Amino acid sequence: MKKLVIANWKMLPTSLAEAQEILARMDDVLGELGENREMSLVVCPPFVFIEEVARTLGTGHLEHSAELGAQDIAIQESGALTGEVSGSQLAKLGVHYVIIGHSERRWKLGESDATVNEKLKVALRDGLIPIVCVGERTREGEWQAELSAQVQATFSGVSSDDLGRCLIAYEPVWAISTNPGARPDTPESAAQSVALLRDVLGQQRFLYGGSVTDKNARAFLERPEFSGVLVGGASVRAEEFTRILEISATI
Ligand code: PGA
Repeated sequence: MKKLVIANWKMLPTSLAEAQEILARMDDVLGELGENREMSLVVCPPFVFIEEVARTLGTGHLEHSAELGAQDIAIQESGALTGEVSGSQLAKLGVHYVIIGHSERRWKLGESDATVNEKLKVALRDGLIPIVCVGERTREGEWQAELSAQVQATFSGVSSDDLGRCLIAYEPVWAISTNPGARPDTPESAAQSVALLRDVLGQQRFLYGGSVTDKNARAFLERPEFSGVLVGGASVRAEEFTRILEISATI
């Protein structure tokens, strides 16, 4: 199975020109890697760039190798919800994936497990592939019980068929590169957390996220527990990200 590399650009590209430069480097490296590369790429730009990024992803080497993701979805399928973007609007722009329950939304913007759960169900109804982020805030106290409770609430009422359509990103909050004192988890310890997630969710496709760089990507991608990586900060550093793509193509 091809390893998946997901670029979560967050709010980081400051202009469309910057976003296009990153895509141009991705296109170059995909061309260099050739047709038989064992890797798939999903690019999740900020909403404002989605339409342009969709156009670019339909060109050159990106066309058959990269897919489009969104970073969030409205809690409702349609209607009056100022500032939000619906799943069907996203789907019409060519979006196939959507990040749900990212820790920055949970902890900086107050998104509850219940909200994440509703967004997940909306994404599934709209035919998008949810990339559902879960992870503990610290490794102190009863963190495993907290993680397990978060996962249960996040997936509450989701059928096993629908669960099988999700990608589950294990992203310990303390490992997200922009959080104070952040450090990546080790592949061994992240794999143990995945074992815990499997106890709750069964056998699913798991990704690792949190300070993934060109230095540690291989160690995560080589582990059978992980179907891929979710890359934040390093995904807008074009040279570094192309190295991550090169690494993932060789695994
Ligand atoms: P990071 O972010 O790679 O910058 O730690 C990952 C994420 O937030 O998805």
